[in-house]
Amino acid sequence: MVELRLPANSTVREGKRYPAPQGATRTREFRVYRWSPDEEENPTVDTYELDLEKVGPMVLDALLYIKNHVDETLTFRRSCREGICGSCAMNIDGENTLACLKPIASMQGAVKIYPLPHMPVVKDLVPNLNGAYAQINAIQPWLKADTAPPPDEERRQSIEEREKLDGMWECILCFCCTTSCPSYWWNGDKYLGPATLLAANRWIMDSRDDHSAERLAALQDPMSMYACRTIMNCTQTCPKGLNPAKAIGNIKKLQVDRE
Ligand code: SF4
Ligand code: SF4
Ligand code: FES
Repeated sequence: MVELRLPANSTVREGKRYPAPQGATRTREFRVYRWSPDEEENPTVDTYELDLEKVGPMVLDALLYIKNHVDETLTFRRSCREGICGSCAMNIDGENTLACLKPIASMQGAVKIYPLPHMPVVKDLVPNLNGAYAQINAIQPWLKADTAPPPDEERRQSIEEREKLDGMWECILCFCCTTSCPSYWWNGDKYLGPATLLAANRWIMDSRDDHSAERLAALQDPMSMYACRTIMNCTQTCPKGLNPAKAIGNIKKLQVDRE
């Protein structure tokens, strides 16, 4: 389980309390982190008591209920509501995961909802991911081929070549892994983090790409990849069941093989 770490000097005050509506029969508390650039009392944790008879089964359903019926100022990202877009990533009950895939019934007591740890907050549950996206961009996550594709045909792979990408193409760039990684917490400006390194491995392993050697060389310095200490938080927390730590291990092995 990935525990939320707050900055050392950060204190979170009790915020507003929204009681359950009269007549509610099956209630549950949701304690939600609030931070706004427009507020002076920052950050706070607001408590929303909901009637579960009126709320869908997932944590995202509870957040949508709050937004639509209780407090329209609550801010969070979401789009697909089925674990595909990666936008509803947040820290729920101490674990980085997707709100749309997290059943309320899987937790006991008050449900604690915070933004992804150790990222700047734009508002409430919305982290600023500009730095993480810039890191993804830096590894050039696209096919780099030196030859033109066959005329009127796609670039083909054998079944075996294609299978080498399994466990990597499924990544939805939610950054649950990166924001659960202690090495990234302390060195996020220099260490690329597990999501970006998984993407790097995906292109290194692609049989159609002609720049694997160049991609490996770009990760040879002490920090970009070697700041990984094999702590495995990334693999433990990935809501898609992927294994970024294994991908990082593969890149290290390929670098040794090259030498
Ligand atoms: S295995 Fe590496 S990338 Fe994954 S959490 Fe540990 S240090 Fe971070
Ligand atoms: S590896 Fe998993 S946790 Fe990390 S960004 Fe991809 S889907 Fe999210
Ligand atoms: S809303 Fe798309 S992954 Fe949760």
